[in-house]
Amino acid sequence: MNSENSKETILKMLRPETVAVIGAAREPSKIGHQVVKNLMIGGFSKEKIFPINPFADEILGLKCYPSIKDVPIDVDLAVIVVPAKIVPKVIRECGEKGVKAVAIISSGFKEVGNVELEREIVEIAKKSGFRILGPNIVGICDTVKSVNASFCQGLPLPGNIAFITQSGALAIALVGWTRLKKIGLSDLVSIGNKADIDENDLIEFFGEDENTKVITAYLEGIKDGRRFLEVARNVSMKKPIVILKAGKAERTMSAIKSHTGSLAGSDIAYEVAFKQTGVLRAPTFLELFDWAIALSKLHLPEGENTVILTNGGGAGVMATDAAEEYGVKLMDIPKDLAERLRKYMPPFGSVYNPIDLTGMANKDWYKGALKELLEDERVHSVIVLYCHTAVTKPKEIGDAILEAIVETGVKKPVVVSLIGGEECLDECERLTSKGIPCYESQEKAVAALGALYMYKRNIERIKKRTFIGLNVNYGGAKEIIETAIREGRYALTPSESAKVAEFYGIPVLKKPLAKSVEEATKIAEEIGYPVVLEVESPQVLHKTDIGAIFVGLNNKEEVADAYNKIINNVKKHAPEAVIKGVIVRKMAEAGREVIIGMHRDTIFGPLIMFGLGGIFVELFKDVSFRIAPLSLEDVDEMIKETKAYKMLKGFRGEPEGDIESVKETILRVAKLALDFPEITDIDVNPFFVYEKGKGGIAVDIKIMLRST
Ligand code: ACO
Repeated sequence: MNSENSKETILKMLRPETVAVIGAAREPSKIGHQVVKNLMIGGFSKEKIFPINPFADEILGLKCYPSIKDVPIDVDLAVIVVPAKIVPKVIRECGEKGVKAVAIISSGFKEVGNVELEREIVEIAKKSGFRILGPNIVGICDTVKSVNASFCQGLPLPGNIAFITQSGALAIALVGWTRLKKIGLSDLVSIGNKADIDENDLIEFFGEDENTKVITAYLEGIKDGRRFLEVARNVSMKKPIVILKAGKAERTMSAIKSHTGSLAGSDIAYEVAFKQTGVLRAPTFLELFDWAIALSKLHLPEGENTVILTNGGGAGVMATDAAEEYGVKLMDIPKDLAERLRKYMPPFGSVYNPIDLTGMANKDWYKGALKELLEDERVHSVIVLYCHTAVTKPKEIGDAILEAIVETGVKKPVVVSLIGGEECLDECERLTSKGIPCYESQEKAVAALGALYMYKRNIERIKKRTFIGLNVNYGGAKEIIETAIREGRYALTPSESAKVAEFYGIPVLKKPLAKSVEEATKIAEEIGYPVVLEVESPQVLHKTDIGAIFVGLNNKEEVADAYNKIINNVKKHAPEAVIKGVIVRKMAEAGREVIIGMHRDTIFGPLIMFGLGGIFVELFKDVSFRIAPLSLEDVDEMIKETKAYKMLKGFRGEPEGDIESVKETILRVAKLALDFPEITDIDVNPFFVYEKGKGGIAVDIKIMLRST
C-alpha cells in the first residue's frame, strides 16, 4: 500500500462515516458493549453504527447483524472486540465485506508470545487490502468527527493536539486528566502491538491533518527507525512533534561489543534521532502537555530576545535560572526601553531583565509595561509572572495581559505564570482558553517558551543541512569484506581494516604484511625506522601478552630478530592460531588523541560517535553521537558538543589541531557504515590529530562484521 493510500485508510479509520463493532456484547460490563455505548454517547450518528454479534438481535436499541457481511452499506471502520482466537475469522469477513480499516482491541497476540497469530492477521489484512490498528489497544478517540471507538470513559475535549500512545492505560487515564486540565485533543490513538499501523504512519497522517497543530506521543519504542528519521524530519518542518519516550534507564539494552560502542546505548540513539529530526523529547507527560499547549497556541518567536516581567523578585530570579536551563535567552534592556518602562513602576522597581514592577504593581502597570515590550521590535518574546498580592486580583492581571495583546495586535509569544491559590488557577485556565498559555509556576512557563525556541532552532538547523559527496573505492572495500564473510569471520584483520580504511579515504597507518624475514626487513627499509612488528592472526587478540608485538625497532637486525620471535611466541603460546603474516608498520608520530566510532543500532542504523581518546575515555565519557547520513552541520555540532573540541582548538597555548581532518574522517566512517550494512561496528582508536594543516591519522581501526 503506497503512502497516499495509507493516509486515505487512516482517515477512514480515525474519521469514519460508518463503524461496525464486531463482538458487540449484550452484557453492559463487557468491553464490546461499552464500545457501542461510547460511540452512541460520543455523538456518532446511530444510523451509522453497526453492532455485530451472531447471538443477539439488538444491542442498546441498535439492530445487530450476525456477520459484518450482512451490513447493508459500506463500512469504513470495523472495531474488533472478540477473543483473539476468533479474530482471524472475523477479519477475513471484513476483507470479504471490503471494510477500509480495522482496529483490534482484543489482546492475546504478540504481547503474550502469540507471534504466529499476529502474523496471520497481518497477512489477511494485506491480502484483503485494509490496514490494522493494534491489536491490544484501547481504541480510537477522535473529536473531529466525534468517534469514540474505544473503551475510554468518554471522549477528550475537542482541540488541536493529536496524541498517539503505545500504552492503552495512559490513553484511558488521559481522557479524564486532559478534561480536568481543559486540554483539547484532535485525536487520541492507541497503537498497542503495532502489528501494521505504527507511529510513523500516524505521524505522517497528522502531519497533513488540518485539525492537528501539534503531534504528541508516548512511545516505548519505534518500529522502523530509518523511516522515522525521514517521516519525523519532514513532519517537523510543518508542525511540532513532542514525544515522551520511556525506557531511559535501559541504557544497557543493546550489548555492544566494541570498546567505543560500550559507551553507547539504545536510548542515546533515540535521543540523537529526536535531535536530528527536530522532535522535542518531553521527560514526563506533564511537560509533554505543557509544551504542546504553548506550541499549539503561540506563534514562533522571530528572535532570541526574551524579557521577564514580574511583580515578585523571587519569581523573577527563579525564572532566570530556569531560562538558562531551558535555553531561553534574556536580553539586556536597551536604555530607551528602560526609560519608557520606568513609567510603570515605583522608583525602587527594576528595569533590568527580569523587569520587576514590584509588589505594588497594578493592572495598569502590567498592561502599560507589556505594551511597551510587545511594541518594541527588539523584544521577541515575553514571560509574564504574577504573584497574587492583596493589591490586585489575578483576573485584573489576566485582563491586562489580554488587553495589551489585543491593543498592540502583535503576534509575539507571551507565556504567563500566575502564582497563588484558587483564583490564580481559575484565571490561568481562562487565559489559556483565550490562547495565552498560563502555568502554575514560573519554571513551567519558561520551559514552555523554551520548547518553542527548541523547536524553532531545530527546524532552522534541519533547513540548513548540507551534504557532500565523497570519493571512495567501494569495490576494493567490498572484496575484502566479502572475503571475510565468506570465511565466516566476524572481524577484519588489522591489515584488512587498514586497507578498507584506505579505500575509503580514511587517513590510516598502513599495515603491510610480511610473510618472511626478508620481506619484513625490505618493508622496514622502505618505510624508515623506527618500526613496529605485530602478528596478523584473527585468533590472537592480546598480542602483548604472548610477545606477538615489538615496538621501536631501529634497524634490519632488530626487525629480523623480532620477526622470528613473534613467529616462535605465537606457535608456542597460541598453537591453534593461523598466522597470516607479520605487519611491519611505522611508529606513528604522537598527536592529540580522539576516537571515532560506529555502532549499528538495531532501530536507527549507523550511530556515529566522536569523543576524547586516550586513557581517560571510559572515565570522562566525553562523547557525542549522530545517526548517519551526516550533514556537515551534524559533524560540526557533534565535535563542538565535546570537551575534546576545546583540546583540538588549542588548550593552554597548544596550537590548534587539524579539526578538518577529524570532520572528514567522521564523514568517511559514516559513509563506510552506510555503504556496508554488514559492518556492525567500526572503532577508530586512537585517531591522532596533528597541528592544523597537517592532518591526522588512524593508528588503529577495528571493523566488526555481522554474523550471517
Ligand atoms: N462475531 C461477533 N461477535 C461474536 C462472535 C463473532 N464471530 N463470536 C462471539 N461473539 C460475541 C460473543 O457472543 C460476545 O457477546 P455476548 O456477550 O452478547 O454473547 C461478544 O462477542 C464478546 O465475546 P466474549 O467471548 O464474551 O469475549 P469478552 O467480551 O469476554 O472479551 C475481549 C473479548 C474484550 C476482546 C477480550 O478477549 C480481550 O482481549 N480483552 C482485553 C482487551 C484489552 O485490554 N485490550 C488492550 C487495551 S490496552 C490496556 O491494557 C488498557
